[in-house]
Formats: sequence, C-alpha cells, structure tokens
Amino acid sequence: MSDEALSNLLREDRLFPPPPEFAARANAKGSMYDEASADRLGFWAEQAHHLHWDAPFTEVLDWSNAPFAKWFVGGKLNVAYNCVDRHVESGHGSQVALRFEGEPGDRRDVTYNELMNDVCKAANALIELGVKGGDRVAIYMPMIPEAIVAMLACARIGAPHSVVFAGFSAEALRSRIEDAQATLVITADGQNRRGSVMPLKPAVDEAVDASPSVQRVLVVRRTGNEVPWHDRDVWWHDIVDRQSSSHTPEAFDSEHPLFILYTSGTTGKPKGILHTSGGYLTQASFTHRSVFDLKPDSDIYWCTADIGWVTGHSYIVYGPLANRVTQVVYEGTPDTPAKDRFWDIIERHRVTIFYTAPTAIRTFMKWGDELPGKHDLTSLRLLGSVGEPINPEAWIWYRDTIGGGHCPIVDTWWQTETGAIMISPLPGVTACKPGSAMRPLPGIGAAVVNDAGTPLGNGNGGYLVLTEPWPSMLRGIWGDDQRYIDTYWSRWPQYYFAGDGAKLDEDGAIWVLGRVDDVMNVSGHRISTTEVESALVSHPKVAEAAVVGASDEMTGQGIVAFVILRGGVDDGEGLAKEFRAHVAKEIGPIAKPRQILIVQELPKTRSGKIMRRLLRDVAENRNLGDVTTLADPTVMNLIAGGMSTAQPED
Ligand code: PRX
Repeated sequence: MSDEALSNLLREDRLFPPPPEFAARANAKGSMYDEASADRLGFWAEQAHHLHWDAPFTEVLDWSNAPFAKWFVGGKLNVAYNCVDRHVESGHGSQVALRFEGEPGDRRDVTYNELMNDVCKAANALIELGVKGGDRVAIYMPMIPEAIVAMLACARIGAPHSVVFAGFSAEALRSRIEDAQATLVITADGQNRRGSVMPLKPAVDEAVDASPSVQRVLVVRRTGNEVPWHDRDVWWHDIVDRQSSSHTPEAFDSEHPLFILYTSGTTGKPKGILHTSGGYLTQASFTHRSVFDLKPDSDIYWCTADIGWVTGHSYIVYGPLANRVTQVVYEGTPDTPAKDRFWDIIERHRVTIFYTAPTAIRTFMKWGDELPGKHDLTSLRLLGSVGEPINPEAWIWYRDTIGGGHCPIVDTWWQTETGAIMISPLPGVTACKPGSAMRPLPGIGAAVVNDAGTPLGNGNGGYLVLTEPWPSMLRGIWGDDQRYIDTYWSRWPQYYFAGDGAKLDEDGAIWVLGRVDDVMNVSGHRISTTEVESALVSHPKVAEAAVVGASDEMTGQGIVAFVILRGGVDDGEGLAKEFRAHVAKEIGPIAKPRQILIVQELPKTRSGKIMRRLLRDVAENRNLGDVTTLADPTVMNLIAGGMSTAQPED
C-alpha cells in the first residue's frame, strides 16, 4: 500500500455506531468480549454446544503438540447432520434452505426436507461408487444446488472434499487431484457464464487422464451440452436419483478431516489447507450467527462467493446451514443479462443480509448509482465485506447507496487458513470506522508486532499475528507438516503469522494493509508471484520472468510480469497475448497478467536475488527507490523506459 493511501486511512475519523434498533435485537452483545476474555475455552465450549454432538467432548483444547491443535477432544458429531437433518427433526423441514437462481433465470427452491433427501441419496451414491470414509473427493462444479449437496454428502460419509474453483485450468485441477490422491471427481457438463455455456467436462477429462488415483467421475447435467464420455464416467441423475433417501449418519471424531482447500503460498506449489470437523463447524456457525446476526425465521441471506473459495465453504455451506439459514444461491455473473442483476436479485428475494467483496463493490460504483437506484433495496439490514482491504470511499458508497445509510457494515478479516472470521465488528456493538476490520472477535487473540515479535502499541504498524489457537484453525498442510510449521509458526514460534501487514490506530482499531509476502490479492483471490512466474517460464519462448502485484483501482492488485525472452525469439507483436493465454491454461484466467513487459535484464542484487520492490515501483509508476544494491544499476533505466510499451490486457 502506498504511503499516501496509508495516511488517508489514518486520517479517517468518521465513526458509525450501530443503529439502536439493530443493537437492541442483535444476537451478539458487548458482554461477549468480557465473557470470552474471562474464560476463553469456556466461551468456545459454550459455542460448541450450539451443535449436536453424538458423544460429548471431554477437553476443549489440546495444544500439547503445538502447533497441531485438537479441539473438542473426544467429541463425536456428523457435520452434515448438523447442517441439515437436525433442522428437519426440529420441525423446520418445510423451510426453504436454498433459493437457487440460475444465470439464465431458472429458479428452484430447496427445502430442508428436500436437501436432506438429496444429501442422503448422494451419500448412498458415493458409497455405491466405492468411496469410503477418509477417501478424498475432488469437486469441480458450478454454483448449483448439487455442488452444496455433493459437499454435504462427502461430509456425511466422512470423505474429505477438495473443492477446486471451476475457473481453474485442467492443469491446476490435475495437480490438486494428485496432491490429495483423490479417487472420485464430481463435476458438471458445464456452467452458465455471461449468457453462454462454458463446458467443464473437457478440463476434467484432461486432468483425470493424467491422474491414476481417480477411479470414477460423477457428472451433473446442468447445461445439456454434448460431453465426451468415458467408461469411468457416470451421470449424477443415473446413480443418485435411484438411491434410497435414507442414510444413517455416522458420528465422526471432532478432529476427523472435513475438507482440504488449496490456496496459494509463496512457492509455486499450492498448499492443501486442512480443516477438521468439530472446531471448524463451531467457529463457522458462531461467527455466522454473531457477525451476520442471522435470524433463521426471518432473514434471507446472500453471500456472493463461489464454493471454490473458503468464503463459499464457511459462509454458504457450513456456517449458514448449521444455523438453519434461508439463502440465495446464484450461479452467474453480476452483469448478466444486465449490470443490475444483483440488485434485481436482492429486490425479488427480499434479501436482508448481503456479503460480497470490495472488488465487486468498486465495480458497482463504477457502473453507476442509477443501477441500484432502479431497485427497492429496503429489505437489506446488514452488509458484509471480505477478501481484501475495503477503501473508505467504497465503504461509504456501500453504506449509502446499497444500505440506504442505515445498515451496519461488517468488514471481516480472515483467511483460508483461519477457516472462519477472526477480526470484524459485531454489528450491534461496534462503532465502525470505514475501512477498518476493527478488533478481534470474542475468543480470538490478535496482535500487531514488529520484526522482533514484540507487540506494538496503538498508533503503530507492523505484522498481523494471531496469539492464541482458535477452533477453526487449519490443522496443517495436507501431506506436509514441515511446510505448515515453516510457513506459519517459524518467524515467531509463539504466534501464527498471517502474512499480512496491519496498523493499529490511536484507538486500537486494526487496519489490515495487505500481504507482506510474495502473495498477490487480485479481486480478492490469492495468487502467488512464483506460481505465475513458473507458468511463464514453462512457455518455450520465455527464459526468465519476474512477477509483481501492482496496486489497481478496481481489482486491489493487478499482475504485472517482466519477461526475458529466450535467445533467438523476436519481440514480435502478439507475444504478450500468447503468454497471457499460456498462464490462463496453466493456472486459470484469474491469473492472467494485466501487463506484460518484455525486458532485456531484471534488477538483481549481487547475490542474484530479483529486487521486486524496484519492479513494483516501475509497475506503479513511482520514482525508483534505492538502486545502489543492484549489481547493475543501469538496468532499471532500461526497464522503466519500456513501461509505456507494456501490453495492457485486451
Ligand atoms: O490479505 C488478507 C486478505 O485476504 C487474505 C486471505 O485470502 P484467502 O485465504 O483467499 O481468503 C479470502 C477470504 C477470507 C488475507 O491474508 N483479506 C481477507 N479479508 C480481508 C483481507 N484484507 C483486508 N481486509 C479484509 N476484510
């Protein structure tokens, strides 16, 4: 973040207290902070008791093998039972769980009764396909009810799922299947994107052809397009529909693996973040109840994330369903058929709680106030933001134009690794500052520390760390315990290092400033610089590549690549386009560089390390910082001179 942006933030002194009517009815009261600090583990035990346990836990936290935590030791539960069956058993079977809306406009309501039947049938189908407890299942699906059913069916039989965002490439899917040694892939024929059908099956076929661990591929018919077919493939409607709708859920240990979700780290190889059952569900449901203030009998909730990201796991599937939500699930993009699709959905479904990302909010701002202005958004009572720092301008626009000036905004800071929200206002308690995630939730310990790991006082900036284990914390990196320790617990062994920089203001409010490592945040998606560099150098015309995240008004950060060509390759037209397409093929379209600059040299220190700081200066059109440590200081003049010819994305 630039110094100017930082000082803007620090001048922000507007304060928005919760409306008194909201505060009076809020699920979470201010006393929670005191209760949790008086007895942190007791507080979490109380939250865990909102779930149904088949066997009670005997110990809240076992941290004796730190940093490998065990929460709710000895307890047994079934996550899918907690998200579905118990609501039917308590008499809410006819409540709508999912209000699905497809991009072409098709709609389908799924009640808790129907969801239970669907999950049981899918669980029985997985068993018939040979999936056993502990087996990994890869899910590569559009945002349709079957995706949620598939996740819950896996949870029900104790088979950890690995959801791979359907925008990732065949190669990205293959490497994730291989790392987890998945035996089954669940997918669909295609998905509806921007008014056309985007096939999914060919990418799955390509990935599975190179994945010996996979035995079967289960395919939902969504778009009806022709799909290539193999012996290993089976249609969802052929096998799921004929199953019995009764299935007895098995009680699993609180620490039974629930899912693996891959995310970018600072190396090229994505990390399989492992989450388990009891602690994860406790914190996902607690935060959903207290931060989103869910009232299951009256709210219509909508989180616009995709199930391919952690937000979809924790705040579409597990947290909300455990709390008996009624929620909107939307398949498509915000601009189809027109740029007011989201506001149209909110108006028609009378959405009360809306959770989205700053990059989307900034895009809506750009599209203009007339679009939300055409719709009745008065049903909204609470707004949420996640994925990246929200700038005060976007916060205020969100509050005034979408929230009618009266909805509290919860700016929620968390990560794939944390599993659930960690730092956020409580909407009925906290007086919010636009752009600040404010303070850790009750039961959560966070600090801002300096290089030496010393906690800083108010008014200082440093590194964001978590000071206490929390129930939904990752339990490790799949198959790589050492990488888990090295990545998160080695810089300061007593703290979890989140990888973010943060500032404490004069009142102790936390302002998250973004990543301090080589991880970029593009439209709220995490992409590592090394991952994109590896993709670029795998192109036969590329000798070397350096990638940086440059600040971008719309997407938070944009990917800028500096590429050295192999000898004999001409710097001809169309090269940048070719490289961008190559990155899309290797990783997925979200990782396509915004700009590609062909250079002769890269700025390196005498020991050969690329100085990204200087490349960021160039990419952000800043005056160059100190170049004296460069082996060849003249290199930068050449690079900076070429910036104007960098190819912007077409
Ligand atoms: O840099 C922080 C940013 O997103 C990172 C986590 O990315 P991911 O694991 O993909 O999860 C995103 C959804 C939870 C963090 O390290 N981030 C997330 N939320 C915020 C944020 N930065 C500032 N403010 C937030 N509210």
